[in-house]
Amino acid sequence: MKVCVIGTGYVGLVTGAVFADLGNDVICVDNNKEKVEKLKKGIMPIYEPGLEEMVRHNYEDKRISFTGDLGDAVRKSDVIFIAVGTPPAADGSTDLSFVEAVAKEIAAHIDKYKIIVNKSTVPPGTGEFVRNVIEKNKRHQVDFDVVSNPEFLKEGSAIRDSYNPDRVVIGAPSQNIAMALVELYAPLEAPMLITDVASAEMIKYASNAFLATKISFINAVANICERIGADVGLVAKGMGSDKRIGKEFLMAGLGYGGSCFPKDTLSLIHTSQKFGEDFHILHSVVKTNEERTPRFISRIKETIGSVKGKKFGVLGLAFKPDTDDMRDAKSVEVINELHKEGAKFAVYDPISMDNAKSMIPKDVEYMENASEVAKGADALIIMTEWKEFQGLNLEEIKAAMKRPLILDVRNIYTLDRMERLGFEYVSIGRRPLVSKN
Ligand code: UGA
Repeated sequence: MKVCVIGTGYVGLVTGAVFADLGNDVICVDNNKEKVEKLKKGIMPIYEPGLEEMVRHNYEDKRISFTGDLGDAVRKSDVIFIAVGTPPAADGSTDLSFVEAVAKEIAAHIDKYKIIVNKSTVPPGTGEFVRNVIEKNKRHQVDFDVVSNPEFLKEGSAIRDSYNPDRVVIGAPSQNIAMALVELYAPLEAPMLITDVASAEMIKYASNAFLATKISFINAVANICERIGADVGLVAKGMGSDKRIGKEFLMAGLGYGGSCFPKDTLSLIHTSQKFGEDFHILHSVVKTNEERTPRFISRIKETIGSVKGKKFGVLGLAFKPDTDDMRDAKSVEVINELHKEGAKFAVYDPISMDNAKSMIPKDVEYMENASEVAKGADALIIMTEWKEFQGLNLEEIKAAMKRPLILDVRNIYTLDRMERLGFEYVSIGRRPLVSKN
């Protein structure tokens, strides 16, 4: 099938690469010329495991190409995916200006029947909006259909998720129209759900909001665990063993970050209000999430007193492992807040240090590995659960530190082990191991 994907961000680039890998002719369009030129040379704008290899080999085999010429790409394609950014506006609603601009450009170039697919995360009703924009601006009397096909991939496992989706959701005006996408996804042998457009749009928002709710729920449980001496990891395991609850997305921490949950929860609240409904639960989900970092900072101060002049080592900066994405990363909040009060920082992240530089203070020191970060530190903060941090030589780390104190927001070590090694250890939803003096 001849496919064009507009937007080469996480969703667009991964979608394009996977469709090419499945044997389709894919044109990826971006209005950022530099990005297009780099992609042609095999340089990826983002880090995502397996992506570079997949793009390179499909580019060499001429199944994927990159261009800034949207008109040409539209004319050559049967199915056009819109995968541009949908950032939050100041009032929590979703800024659809990129989607609108693309819809206008498609309208200017559409010359025969095409299917336009919304893959960007957009509020319910956007399918109708895109349809109207194209209808109003099209230059030829041609027919077209707008379909919603939300993406459920996670950063850090985007290729794996795209190849093994739990479900493919296709929201189309009719079964017939949906069949073009069914054909495109058929090689994945994944369960497919065909719905109307509005339901597909709602599935995406409701799914992200529900997952965010699970995270805020376990974080609220973690707060109580800290008070009563319970272990939130065991509580989550016990809860998650009930199939109706499920094991995933019950990891306590500093709350959800990244480019999706924070904006999508706010957007669903906004959409509800727009239709005269109040999504009470979601207000609490957002509030619980916002309270996570201030609470952690208070715990740091309870443990070490004034942070002025104290040296903190930070392991992990990205909002989650296997990505270099720093959008809404909790590390930024923690570092900036403690820095304001006079704390000093040495940090290490396997791949996101370059992206972090413009977001955290200039005097932060960037190190090559965890041992360097630990040298002379009053405390080590574990912010991201990169695999390599689990395998650290903790005896060596302890010997290098000024005070053997680890503040771990991802609970990557067991209390037994930390007790045995003689660390002071403050984690989330578990009893703290702290010296009394
Ligand atoms: C999320 C969804 O998981 C994807 O299904 C969806 O497609 C994507 O948003 C999107 O809408 O584009 P993503 O933001 O890449 O994916 O990452 P997640 O793995 O969901 O993590 C989001 C945040 O929640 C991270 O800060 C993570 O650390 C946090 N989290 C996740 C927890 O604190 N606890 C958990 O148990 C799981």
